Amino acid sequence: MDVDHALVRYLEAKRTVDDRSFSRRVRDTLYELLPSEPRMIDIGAGTGATVPRLLDSGIGGSYRGIDSSEQLTAYARAVRSRELRFRGYDVTTTAEENFTVSDITDADAHTNTDSPSHTESTLAVTFETADALTAAANTDDIDLLMAQQFMDLVSIEQALDVFLDALRPGGLAYFPLTFDGTTVFQPDHPADSEVEAAYHNAIDTAPDRDSHAGRHLLDALRNRPGTVRGVDAADAVVYPQENTYRGDEQYYLQQLLTFVEETVTSDAVPEINDWIASRRQQVSDGTLTYVGHRYDILYQTPTHRSW
Ligand SMILES: C[S@@+](CC[C@H](N)C(=O)[O-])C[C@H]1O[C@@H](n2cnc3c(N)ncnc32)[C@H](O)[C@@H]1O
Repeated sequence: MDVDHALVRYLEAKRTVDDRSFSRRVRDTLYELLPSEPRMIDIGAGTGATVPRLLDSGIGGSYRGIDSSEQLTAYARAVRSRELRFRGYDVTTTAEENFTVSDITDADAHTNTDSPSHTESTLAVTFETADALTAAANTDDIDLLMAQQFMDLVSIEQALDVFLDALRPGGLAYFPLTFDGTTVFQPDHPADSEVEAAYHNAIDTAPDRDSHAGRHLLDALRNRPGTVRGVDAADAVVYPQENTYRGDEQYYLQQLLTFVEETVTSDAVPEINDWIASRRQQVSDGTLTYVGHRYDILYQTPTHRSW
């Protein structure tokens, strides 16, 4: 059974996990190569969590978030603008509830030590409901295409053909948090290896899905004419402190267990019910640690159009 990732609470709960995961090295390279006022497109934008991250890093220009879920697009428009206003950004709502955000009404409200050198920025934000491959096929001259935690959901080669074609010569494609086929739950359970193998196997049997998308994306980009500018691990690591998880991460873990539960049958792993029950109890008790292996990859197209 295919897993539905279009779950607002799951995507919001993973924000704190993701903030710890991003490779600083790859992100620094991205900031160095990014022109000022870039034209950006975000593939599978979800709840739009990338928008505050861009603004907190002093990046303006234009941002177009695309997601196939109407529910997520509506949420992103409504909630991101409110969040940014609350945090002291100057937000002007434009047509169809999209918005423009300007820095800085209160510099202390969103100081971020990771920011690149430019600090004042205006970002024009739109969210639209569409199939990302179709939307990207009708787009060109983009400075930065982002596809965060997305490339395990589609045919990598087919998506790259479209995504890289949407970029200008010398444009950047950033693929953070791309899942790469290692799922660790601790403490040990006797069925761990079987569950992990069955989970990844079920992902791989779904059309166009790839549980090892991180490494395969890297291989695919190496065979393209541009340059891989950065690669790093960006693992999700969730662990309790004094039996308590940060933010909404307890929910995040319960949702990950739901994905496993919906995917792994008792034919594949006879002990799955016991495994799920004991893992859920450990999440409730604040004793479960989770690691999901992911890659951050940054690619730049050639400066002359030859791809
Ligand atoms: C795992 S979520 C990641 C969301 C967001 N990038 C993040 O990291 O928080 C994948 C997102 O891709 C969207 N999605 C899946 N297939 C899509 C497609 N063909 N076109 C547009 N969006 C798609 C889903 O609705 C979901 O929001």
